[in-house]
Amino acid sequence: MKFRHEFIEKNVTLMMALTLLVVAIGGIVEIVPLFTIETTIERVSGVRPYSPLELAGRDIYLREGCYLCHSQQIRPFRDEVERYGHYSLAAESLYDHPFQWGSKRIGPDLARVGGKYSNDWHVQHLTDPRSVVPESIMPSYAFLGRHPLKYDDIRLHLEANRIAGVPYDQAMLDNAKTDVLAQLDPAGDVAPLLKRYPGASIGSATGNPNSPTELDALIAYLQVLGTMVKFGDVGVEELKQ
Ligand code: HEC
Repeated sequence: MKFRHEFIEKNVTLMMALTLLVVAIGGIVEIVPLFTIETTIERVSGVRPYSPLELAGRDIYLREGCYLCHSQQIRPFRDEVERYGHYSLAAESLYDHPFQWGSKRIGPDLARVGGKYSNDWHVQHLTDPRSVVPESIMPSYAFLGRHPLKYDDIRLHLEANRIAGVPYDQAMLDNAKTDVLAQLDPAGDVAPLLKRYPGASIGSATGNPNSPTELDALIAYLQVLGTMVKFGDVGVEELKQ
């Protein structure tokens, strides 16, 4: 064995050929599964594309860099599951481009913050975090409540996501703008919206459905986080489509 190894090491061409072979095998093993990445994410019932208002809120979440302090990934450890709820499934980030798993937790994980607080709580907290959590070091985002939401081009955001693989259909694209307002107004006809985006939280966080602010959109996004999959007592196996 020692002799054969010496033979390889002293023969540059053979050494190079064998090195390339080993590297190629390693490369193939790492790269080939990526071609089938679509099939490696198991589909789970309940996961749907974001509604236009939620998507607009998500854009604000990215713009403001909330991910620098908040992760969106509950790891499958007991302490995390007891604090935040069911660990995150890959499918729950299926329509997130880019995903918001994050790597820093200066504040708590937000993967399942949807439904944890009322809209009013979020308005108060985002406007003046220390008025609800005195020891908070989170910055104030009061200005979001004064900025009107720009949603004239929201259809383009949906289209861009569609190119990335999010299954927005024609009706979703055609109604993108009206769906923004529909989601804010509980008095309006919300049935078509809820048919397209089941479980979307209806209502204007700032109480003025006709002139949406960036705060409305951000809160609509926060309220849907982690709520699409209904875990209840069933395990992940039962949820697979
Ligand atoms: C400098 C770091 C920092 C940034 C940036 C930040 N947060 Fe926070 N956030 C915190 C901290 C710390 C807490 C815990 C104390 C508190 O509740 O205010 C928190 C708490 C929260 C909570 C309550 C979570 C819970 O489960 O109680 C929400 C919701 C939240 N942040 C949303 C946001 C959003 C949305 C943004 C971006 C607009 C943002 N945060 C930006 C640090 C940050």
